[in-house]
Amino acid sequence: MIDWLFIPLAYVIGSVSSAIIICRLMGLPDPRAEGSGNPGATNVMRIGGKKAAGITLLGDLLKGLIPVYAANAFGVSAEILALTGLAAFIGHLYPMFFGFKGGKGVATSIGVLLGFCWWLGLAFVATWLAVYKLRKISSLSALCTSVLSPIYAWFIVCSVPLVLASVVMTALLLYRHKSNIKRLLTGEES
Ligand code: G3P
Repeated sequence: MIDWLFIPLAYVIGSVSSAIIICRLMGLPDPRAEGSGNPGATNVMRIGGKKAAGITLLGDLLKGLIPVYAANAFGVSAEILALTGLAAFIGHLYPMFFGFKGGKGVATSIGVLLGFCWWLGLAFVATWLAVYKLRKISSLSALCTSVLSPIYAWFIVCSVPLVLASVVMTALLLYRHKSNIKRLLTGEES
């Protein structure tokens, strides 16, 4: 019964926006008002450089990883594990602490997938890096990788709840990248 508590807890943890907090602590402009306006590591890189972006990336990744890892260690069912990961991801996209306006979910989805299975998270990171090496566009790497992640999930973890969670994360991630997709199609994406 107590297993279900991981789901709201994951949403609360996911709601902590690393980008906004790191920018405040480092005396940088609010990422929601600068660059692309997205509170995520790519935009923090534009505003504050590699160090600030690296810390943001780590923070967003950990808030996906920690709840899933803890729930897994607690021995919850695959269904609750999948919902815990989704809750952390949704917390990042729609954070209760920041007016339900959050980021696009790339780093948090990596953390969630790493929590489901290390190999799955590593496959995501390797694909992101490979696409980035080819085209040097962060959003394109994220989109290609996210589309592939349910397929990776199917072959690597072969658990229906985890694959379904991965499909939902991909759908939401694509939705949150709609402005990036438009710019990619018109060749204007930076
Ligand atoms: O993770 C978000 C990234 O893919 C795109 O971010 O700031 O260019 O919209 P941004």
